[in-house]
Parts: sequence; C-alpha cells; structure tokens
Amino acid sequence: MSDLEQLEADLNQRIADAADETALEAVRVAALGKKGAVSERLKTLGAMTPEERQVMGPAINGLKSRIADAIAARKTTLANASLNARLVNERVDITLPVRPASLQEGRIHPVSQVIDEITAIFADMGFSIAEGPDIETDYYNFTALNFPPDHPAREMHDTFFMPEKEDGSRMVLRTHTSPVQIRTMEAHAEAGDDIRVIIPGRTYRYDSDQTHTPMFHQVEGLVVDKTSHLGHLKWVLAEFCKAFFELDDIKMRFRPSHFPFTEPSLEVDIGCDRSGDKVKLGEGDDWMEILGCGVVHPNVLRFGGYDPDVYQGFAWGMGIDRIAMLKYGMPDLRAFFDGDIRWLTHYGFPPLDVPSLVGGLSR
Ligand code: DAH
Repeated sequence: MSDLEQLEADLNQRIADAADETALEAVRVAALGKKGAVSERLKTLGAMTPEERQVMGPAINGLKSRIADAIAARKTTLANASLNARLVNERVDITLPVRPASLQEGRIHPVSQVIDEITAIFADMGFSIAEGPDIETDYYNFTALNFPPDHPAREMHDTFFMPEKEDGSRMVLRTHTSPVQIRTMEAHAEAGDDIRVIIPGRTYRYDSDQTHTPMFHQVEGLVVDKTSHLGHLKWVLAEFCKAFFELDDIKMRFRPSHFPFTEPSLEVDIGCDRSGDKVKLGEGDDWMEILGCGVVHPNVLRFGGYDPDVYQGFAWGMGIDRIAMLKYGMPDLRAFFDGDIRWLTHYGFPPLDVPSLVGGLSR
C-alpha cells in the first residue's frame, strides 16, 4: 500500500471511529488543518519536479477532497444520531394532567364580586363611589348622624371602642358606612354640589353567629339635591333589586321604621320562599329584610353643611354579605372570612368574570 493510501485508510478509520462531533472536529484538524497530515503533503508539492507534481498533485488533492467529503458525511450521520437520541429521551407524557394556569386557579371573593356588581348597577344610574376610614370618631359615627348623646342606639350598635385618648374621647370601629355620608357632604357643601354616591366598605359590631360576623360589609347610598324625594328612592331601590338579583319580577315591601338619620325611615323586605333549606327569591309568601332607608334628616344635612331649607335627599344602607348570601346561596356568613381555599374555590368567581350590565352581572 502506498504512503498516501495508508494515510487515507488511517484517516477514514479515525473518521469512522469519531463518536461525536467534537472527536470528528479533532480528526478534521489533524487531517486538513494548517498543520494537518494532508495539508503537510500538499506543501511537499512545491519541492517536486514537474513530472512528479503532475502525478502527486491530483493524488493529494483527490485525497483532500475525499477526506473532506467523508468528514461531512460523518458529521451528518452524527447529527442525525444525536437528534434521534434526543427524540427518544426527551419525551412528553401527554397523559400527565395539565397544570392549570394561575388565571384559571385564582378566585375573586364573593364579597369583592358583589361589590363590583353593585358598583356596576349604580354607576349605570350615575352614582360615583365614596369611601371613608374604618376607625371613626364618635362625632361622625353617631353625633353628626343625629344620634342624641347617650341615646341607646349607640349601645344597640354593639360598638367596638378604641382605648381612651388623653382628652377622654374614644375612637370607634365604625358600626356602619353612614359616617361617610357626613364626610361626603362636608367635602361638597361649599360648592353646593348635588351628591349621588354609593359607599361600600367594612363595618364592625360586637356580634357573631351564623348570619353575623364582627367585621362585615355595607354599602350606603346618598342622594342630595334640591328635588329628590321618597318616590325616587323607591324607584332606585326597585331598579337595583331587579338588576342585582337578576329577576324581572321581584316583590318589595317598604315598612315604616326608625333611624336617627332619616325621617321618614323605612325598611325594605323582598318577597321570598323560605319553606326549603334555601331562601328562594321571586317566589313564595315570606319576606326577608334587606336594607334600611329614608329621607335624609334635616339635622344630618345641617351637620354635613347643607341648608335643609334648600337641599333634600335620600339615603339607604344595606348589608353586602347578606345579599351575597341570598343571591349565591351561601348558608353561613362566618365561612366568608375563614380563608378556607376549598370554600373560595367553590363560591369564588373567575378573575376575568368582571360584572357588567351589558355582559351580564353573574352569567
Ligand atoms: N346605618 C344603618 C345600619 O347600619 C343602615 C341605614 C339605614 C343606612 C337607613 C341609611 C339609612 O343610610 O337611610 O343599620
């Protein structure tokens, strides 16, 4: 075997033995690199006689191109082999359950959802939202709402009192959202603006059983202008109930009542059936109280900075958790605030299910 034939046989063997692309690259450098065996042979051509060169030139160049081809072919083979190996190893087990996306897992608490529903309904009627602090002064929670000093109603509210301050006064955890009526009027009295707000928020009373928790939610409504009266109040509340409970025909009953901050005062019941274990709305002969309301007392307007000889209006207050329980059939209010993920998964709402009047409140 000639020297070149021997070299070619060796190189072909090494190419065949190269187990991966790194090893193959090493063979390529050893053969065709600057100082590779084949390149060294090519360099010897310069020193040959023309006759020798005529024979050896094509022989060495032929060797060079065959080796280059062999390397390229081996490279393709190795690449295919490694792809096949990955295809075998990197398997996706399509029988595994798909991990749910966080948007599908997350839940909106029914109280948040119901606040959004209430907001959508009243926003459509031109109401805006007002808010106030959870820790209130006695003045805003009681006095400015026309509760006389030492009036038993202050006790009736089962108020949580904060520790006494140096001046002897005590802040309270607000027992209702009504103090924000006064705060809202104060903010608008100077301009004499008409007021049309709803006030959702947390409220606190010393009370706990199946339908009461020490912290609960209310939504207050307040309208102040020069013409609004009881008839408007009835219409607003009737429209609200139809929209909120998603029933065209809902029976409502307005009963005379008493609140210090309204005169006259009324309580509103809605018709329902309580014969089964769940309260059913829109049928039956029973009644269920859902809110208190009335015409804003002149003293309250005065405390808010509005002249009761010029301005008048109406207000209402409603338990949010309660109407959420009614609408979505939750039996125990305490579970609302337990933070139990199973409860939330069951009663909560998908995060993209944003309530709107056009899209449907609850679908
Ligand atoms: N603040 C009352 C309560 O917590 C509810 C209420 C009744 C609010 C009549 C009002 C109203 O604005 O006019 O029991």
